[in-house]
Amino acid sequence: MIKRRDFLRTTAAASGLAFARRFSSLASAQTSSGATIEVLMNEPLGVISPEIYGHFVENLSGVVYDGVWVGEDSKVPNIKGIRKRLVDEMRKIKPAIVRFPGGCFADSYDWRDGVGPVEKRPRRTNFWFGGEKPGAMEAHRYDPNRFGTNEFVEFCRLIGGQPYLAANLRSLPAEQFYRWVEYCNSPAGSTTLADERAEAGFKEPFNVRYWGVGNESWGCGGNFTAQEYAVEYRRFTAWVPGYQGPLSFIASGPNDDTWSWTRGFLEEITRKGKGEIRDIFGLALHYYAWNLSRGKTHDWVQGKGDAVNFDATDWYELLQQGDVMESLITGHWQVMGEFDPEHHIKLVVDEWGPWYKDGSALTLTDQLEQLPTLRDAVFSGMTLDTFNRHPDKVSIGCCAQLINCLNSLYLAHEEKFCVTPVGHVFGMYAAHQGGRSLRTEFLAPEISYDRDGKPASFWGLKGAASLHDKMLVLTAVNPDTAKPMQTEINVRGASVKSGTAIVLSAPDIHARNTFEQPDTLVPRSATVTVRGGDVRFDFPPASVVKLELELV
Ligand code: AHR
Repeated sequence: MIKRRDFLRTTAAASGLAFARRFSSLASAQTSSGATIEVLMNEPLGVISPEIYGHFVENLSGVVYDGVWVGEDSKVPNIKGIRKRLVDEMRKIKPAIVRFPGGCFADSYDWRDGVGPVEKRPRRTNFWFGGEKPGAMEAHRYDPNRFGTNEFVEFCRLIGGQPYLAANLRSLPAEQFYRWVEYCNSPAGSTTLADERAEAGFKEPFNVRYWGVGNESWGCGGNFTAQEYAVEYRRFTAWVPGYQGPLSFIASGPNDDTWSWTRGFLEEITRKGKGEIRDIFGLALHYYAWNLSRGKTHDWVQGKGDAVNFDATDWYELLQQGDVMESLITGHWQVMGEFDPEHHIKLVVDEWGPWYKDGSALTLTDQLEQLPTLRDAVFSGMTLDTFNRHPDKVSIGCCAQLINCLNSLYLAHEEKFCVTPVGHVFGMYAAHQGGRSLRTEFLAPEISYDRDGKPASFWGLKGAASLHDKMLVLTAVNPDTAKPMQTEINVRGASVKSGTAIVLSAPDIHARNTFEQPDTLVPRSATVTVRGGDVRFDFPPASVVKLELELV
């Protein structure tokens, strides 16, 4: 077994060597101020799963009540109680999948509370009770269960995404898991629960394919050891009927570089035989970038930074934190390969984003709400490109969380609504869905910055490319807060006929959208120079860029 430190040293050395061999000629071509992007048409990496462009809706403070659900009688325009503007915006970004109802909330949730006649649904204390400020909606503390399974599935249908339900493993018996599956998926007229579903207006089954089996089971989801959780996982997933087809179960994974969770879980799972692997579709990985203390502390509260008040060093520190995602993907993948060499199990990164300290929310009573800026747009573009570069490994991704929460795409309160810079990134990057990811090398001078009197650096330009027939989609971020990156783009194995560019950037790195000024930061078109089949483009400072290049 490879220890973590040895593993990092070995992989870094190996990939460094391969890179040096392939690009020794390029290095000499690179100028000190410019960059080169090499798209390698003959090196496909796999198909980009549309589901990596997924979302997360937890019953947490303003996410559901006020965010998604406003109620049929609301003065806020709605479709069957669901906020209409949200539906309209989401349709534009092709949301492939949505995870619900948590998060930590999932392991306190009884799905039965949220189905059946509305007037009979019980009120329950929400898992997140206690975090709201005075004046918060009552529904945030005491869950009226008005938005349950039926309403969630309706929401998914309206926006055109698949439901991904997270089951309660901590506080409900396994029986309730397969009953929930039965309620959702048993054919019309087949079971009492199918009849109950029909009475609610849903005769045909929901056909929910993706099921999370607990959430963060090492913590809020039961405080298990990896081995204890594996035993529970086997018990919960044994003999759950699939009805229309096999279900895709997603096991609770780590939230950082705790390789021992991944190893301990798979070791225990396979103790009963290698075949047990077949009952796992994915291993959930959560990762939040939160520690902006510049190495001063590891304290979860003290280490957090401010969402809107930051300097250039904080900007780079957040991106450094986010960049860790790639090593988590490759690291956990390597450990998974010890037990599953054919890699039947995929990674499901179903919670990701920056997590700042309290205080930037547009709706002050919303718990965990923060105000995304251009920094979060660059962070999000960078993360989605990381997923794009690993289509063989990452099968689902869910940004945490959709609305009125952490790295939200949208903010809303009563009739007020805005699309955040993160929402615009999802709009730009939707073009990657279903494309063939191509190995793409970015050669750019590093950025140097001052980290409390010590020199620090960050890469100069990075992204991903995917092919869709004759259309090449190339996305990248220029993390430099001040300098543009003049770039030559070479498509090896094809010639470029024409190109268009969409840029999300602003002179102020703190740029953001609010209810009063919703269009401060919106994507704009830019000119791409195509000459003799090659492409030149200047990536503005602090930018997220999408190029669409038509190939001959
Ligand atoms: O997204 C907020 C919380 O973060 C989720 O409920 C939990 O899974 C994670 O710790």
